Amino acid sequence: MSLLAVDRLRLVYDSGRASTVAIEEATLSVAEGEAVGLVGESGSGKSSLARALLGLLPAGTGRITDGSISIAGRDVTRLSRRDWEKLRGRPMAMVFQDPLSSLNPVMRIGTQIGESVRRHDHDADVAKRIGELLDLVRLPAACAGSYPHELSGGMRQRALLAIALGCRPALLVADEPTTALDVTTQAEILTLLRELRGRLGMAMLLISHDLGVVADACDRVVIMYAGRTVEWGNTADTFTRPGHPYASALLAAGQVLRNAQGLFVTIEGEVGRAGGVGCPFAPRCPQVMPRCHIEMPPAFSAEGRAHAARCWLLEDQPSRAAP
Ligand SMILES: Nc1ncnc2c1ncn2[C@@H]1O[C@H](COP(=O)(O)OP(=O)(O)O)[C@@H](O)[C@H]1O
Ligand SMILES: [Mg+2]
Repeated sequence: MSLLAVDRLRLVYDSGRASTVAIEEATLSVAEGEAVGLVGESGSGKSSLARALLGLLPAGTGRITDGSISIAGRDVTRLSRRDWEKLRGRPMAMVFQDPLSSLNPVMRIGTQIGESVRRHDHDADVAKRIGELLDLVRLPAACAGSYPHELSGGMRQRALLAIALGCRPALLVADEPTTALDVTTQAEILTLLRELRGRLGMAMLLISHDLGVVADACDRVVIMYAGRTVEWGNTADTFTRPGHPYASALLAAGQVLRNAQGLFVTIEGEVGRAGGVGCPFAPRCPQVMPRCHIEMPPAFSAEGRAHAARCWLLEDQPSRAAP
């Protein structure tokens, strides 16, 4: 059984009379102990999905209109705020991109970690557990007495991780956890995440716009474009033999970025919006066909059954039956 299963989720934001489709159709799963990467350009709906998974959509504006989310076999799609409070933290916890805005600026780090421990483990020896958690994220014990502004960006992200781990989550959702950090610190945090997963047997959904981050840290990858999950599979398979032209373009952009230092190359054309007809990548796709504008393709397997992409190009290949 999956720890997390998202099935054809659709999510909109209401503002006044207008509503924006942030997620048109997203499907993914995370098994116990597994690390799954969710990648896609900015605006593709990744953070909205992360918030929906933890019941953190803005009240009154963010709304799930279709599909389902289940956690450890329990359907949480229409859970009330109060029910979410009970569930949050265990089995799931989250760390965000900007640790400074997620930490309480007027509360010492130790107190914030202690709150997380107490909320989920009433009988814990809190002081001892704070020490263990600081050690786990490789922060000196003295950091318990520090305020967030006294720490560097990397240390704050470690502190946030300690708070998340305070509730012993079975799944950690990390939304761009390294994006605000410099390259060296980024690598340190990724190494720490890998270590923690190994030691704690924790599953992880790692969200990033950076393919390199996901390639290093994840067993499987899910690629999202304009509110749709368009390709998913084993990380190595997907990155060496992408099935969807969007995945190929993302990978090519990454290569160029690495080869010509300082030159920022992205995929041509505007990022697609969720909610239209046909494949959202069609207006930018170098291999577009007439039907792509009319009909969103189903999933066809790309390389073996576990690797699939939603692209008409894969339809006619004999060895590539639909999963
Ligand atoms: N609170 C919000 N209210 C209205 N629209 C939002 C809100 N948050 C995100 N969106 C819109 O939803 C879409 C997906 O955004 P987001 O989930 O942040 O994508 P990503 O994390 O991949 O960059 C975007 O078009 C964005 O403008
Ligand atoms: Mg985001």
